[in-house]
Amino acid sequence: MSQDNQHLVRVGLLGIGTVGGGTFTVLQRNQEEIRRRAGCGIAITMVADLNVERAKQVVGDHAEVVADARQLIANPNIDVVVELIGGYGIAKTLVMEAIAAGKHVVTANKALLAVHGTEIFAAARAKGVIVAFEAAVAGGIPIIKALREGLTANHIEWVAGIINGTTNFILSEMRDKGLDFDVVLKEAQRLGYAEADPTFDIEGVDAAHKATLLSAIAFGIPVQFDKAYVEGITKLSAADIKYAGQLGYRIKLLGIARRQASGIELRVHPTLVPQRRLIANVEGAMNAVMVQGDAVGTTMYYGKGAGSEPTASAVVADLVDIARLIDAPTDTHVPPLAFQHDSMSAAPILPIEEVVTSFYLRLRVADQTGVLAKITGILAEQNISIDAVIQREADEVSGEDGNQTDLIILTHDTKEGRMNTAIAAMQALPTVLAPIVRLRKEELA
Ligand code: NDP
Ligand code: HSE
Repeated sequence: MSQDNQHLVRVGLLGIGTVGGGTFTVLQRNQEEIRRRAGCGIAITMVADLNVERAKQVVGDHAEVVADARQLIANPNIDVVVELIGGYGIAKTLVMEAIAAGKHVVTANKALLAVHGTEIFAAARAKGVIVAFEAAVAGGIPIIKALREGLTANHIEWVAGIINGTTNFILSEMRDKGLDFDVVLKEAQRLGYAEADPTFDIEGVDAAHKATLLSAIAFGIPVQFDKAYVEGITKLSAADIKYAGQLGYRIKLLGIARRQASGIELRVHPTLVPQRRLIANVEGAMNAVMVQGDAVGTTMYYGKGAGSEPTASAVVADLVDIARLIDAPTDTHVPPLAFQHDSMSAAPILPIEEVVTSFYLRLRVADQTGVLAKITGILAEQNISIDAVIQREADEVSGEDGNQTDLIILTHDTKEGRMNTAIAAMQALPTVLAPIVRLRKEELA
């Protein structure tokens, strides 16, 4: 196929919901500018969606609409298949079939790639087609391209990001407006941010899918979602958000991938971040990803991480990349995970016990002489150094009588395994009256 301004790259769209609808609209609205950038036209000429009538209302007479996705994949006139159905089920089958049919594929489906990426990228390589997935991480922010291409000179040390808009929206609204969790979640769903199954958002699974992809691209390791440590925001209490604020921190759900000498940390959990960091001030459904490279230092990428057109912006960028490369020899394609497939690293993903970080602990204790000494003694036994201790006066602990108080301890860096041992010992003290709250803290300096 030759590339010229008259030529058209024909796209088949699987699923025209929130992101699919945005993709159709953006391609239509900006088609002339996109043609000037791509060197040829790009048009969605066929759509497959279970709801044919709704799809027809979106595309009018600009594209053929069918209910059967396989009819689209079998169409020899389709050059690129865009998968915007979601999930690991039918989406995987259709992506594999599209690759087998020799079609390039664009997808926003982080769940699919984080779990089945190794198989999908291998099939694409064997067939000489591109699988592009900019929209799969941080929606409209071109973080895949930045990490894979813009930062290619660097030895990447760590990547840390707010990579789930729904949870950031929930945390922001709860803190700023005092709204209840359920109310804010419903609003995120109404705005099209949340996954089909919102537990993926609030339990940290969606962020872990994205962190898995970032770790693979940053360090040249295979996608290994099953080894990620995942903790969501459902157990976070208003008291900890408040105390963190009093100590100069905000709590964000971060996805973190960090290189250590012995392997790679891959984790998602609520994290205390100093209020003065830019990333601590990323609010609402906005996303931000920090990348630390040895040459460039710290960089940060900020923008809308979800929603119809922001995500479509990334899908269309992938389509332009493919249109530019459609006639190019396959060995000129950029490797999907940044590193050549025969140069991948075998560095292991470290178990959470091996992760090194600092901690925020909150202990509900009996307000008696000697309690603090016992607790600091247990931490000292584990060689855990204390950064700060504050005690809330008994009357500041809402709803409690004067015999109890909250102790908040910030520690310096230590291995999670040591902290587990210390927490078990502290929890066994008769003066510790409730389950100890443990949150991780990152300076991101
Ligand atoms: P939606 O649920 O809005 O859209 C999915 C569409 O696919 C629906 O129209 C659905 O039809 C259709 N569909 C389901 N099964 C089939 C099938 N077998 N054949 C054809 N069509 C089918 O999802 P989103 O647009 O929100 O998400 C799409 C993908 O993008 C997901 O992987 C998601 O994780 C990802 N993503 C979403 C973002 C967002 O902000 N929403 C941001 C970044 C990524 P029906 O409704 O009738 O079931
Ligand atoms: N559910 C996801 C989020 C969509 O809230 O960030 C974007 O991937």
